[in-house]
Amino acid sequence: MKAYFDYAATSPPDPRVLKAMMPFFRQKFGNPSSIHSWGREAKTALDLARERVSRLLGAEAEEIIFTSGGTEANNLAIQGIAWRQGKGHIVTSRIEHHSVLRTCQFLEKQGFKVTYLPVGREGRVSPEAVQEAIRKDTILVSIMWVNNEIGAIQPIKEIAKICQDYRIPFHTDAVQGFGKLEINVKKLGISLLSASSHKIYGPKGVGCLYKAEDVELRPMLYGGHHERKIRAGTENVPGIVGFGEACRIAGKEMKRDEEKARGLRKRILKACLSIPDSWLNGDLNGLPSIANFGFRGIEGEALVLKLDLAGIAASTGSACAEKELEPSHVLLALGLSPMEAHGSLRLSWGRFTEQEEVDYLLEVLPEKIEELRRISPV
Ligand SMILES: Cc1ncc(COP(=O)(O)O)c(C=O)c1O
Repeated sequence: MKAYFDYAATSPPDPRVLKAMMPFFRQKFGNPSSIHSWGREAKTALDLARERVSRLLGAEAEEIIFTSGGTEANNLAIQGIAWRQGKGHIVTSRIEHHSVLRTCQFLEKQGFKVTYLPVGREGRVSPEAVQEAIRKDTILVSIMWVNNEIGAIQPIKEIAKICQDYRIPFHTDAVQGFGKLEINVKKLGISLLSASSHKIYGPKGVGCLYKAEDVELRPMLYGGHHERKIRAGTENVPGIVGFGEACRIAGKEMKRDEEKARGLRKRILKACLSIPDSWLNGDLNGLPSIANFGFRGIEGEALVLKLDLAGIAASTGSACAEKELEPSHVLLALGLSPMEAHGSLRLSWGRFTEQEEVDYLLEVLPEKIEELRRISPV
């Protein structure tokens, strides 16, 4: 038996997405910048995908810049603003994804100033703290929509309002919330938003940055006039077509996906929290498809490996932290001790999770925890 509980790392592509992509690998292989019929055909497909992505954000199609994924979108947003201004201060949080944190750390080395806001035990940044951190020289606020390790949803509406009042561009890394939560960038006054296709049943290596019409960025790649001169390079047409189809489906099925995720969460939470000495990292107001548990006396990596041997995919936090064996910066920011942070398990599920997979997980997990506790020195 195999059971996949790592949807927050990546989701299985929807078969409808694959079907939409296939023709663009072979018959419809044109370069969208070419003026002949092959090129026009690809350009039409690109335009449709752009329209579909923008619709899911409440944006205009022209405000979507396709990128190679969430990492590039975050870099483009933050470095694009920073290098356009040349100097200044950035406000972000301690629980951001590494593609935001390490970009900010790099900019600090280049002379920019950065404030990393703390979070409470529930994993949320307070809007008041954002307001207090804003200075005369603040050039950008970047706060993620949904945290990838614990699923905490940030008070984006309130933070966006503060940034609007101070006339500071607001960027949000929405990679984990896009396609799962209702998002309307216009209503909220968001300046920049990053999204990724492979978290919403689309292909890997494609994503986008939403950039409000009036926001100016310095490009990171120079070359042709692609993507309104902000992101040079021939577009990944099959990937973008798949991303567009994933967005079309998400727009139609968001409520159904959410209800399903809530039902699964109820079962998983009840069973996991009935394991002795367990707790939930974050709280119950997070994304319904992610839960992060602590199990006292357990090494998260050892548990993930044991589950893997039993055919179950889970993670200790973010996929990138997995190889580093460092305690998660997110869990430390919640106030957990390094020992507690090492004992975490992130489970995430989605559209294709079967009840049988949950049955299997809930049968195997308590056994594996018991086995590890028996040999644990603590
Ligand atoms: C919150 C968050 N931001 C950014 C990324 C990076 O996205 P991508 O894998 O498309 O580069 C991820 C992926 O794990 C994520 O969870």
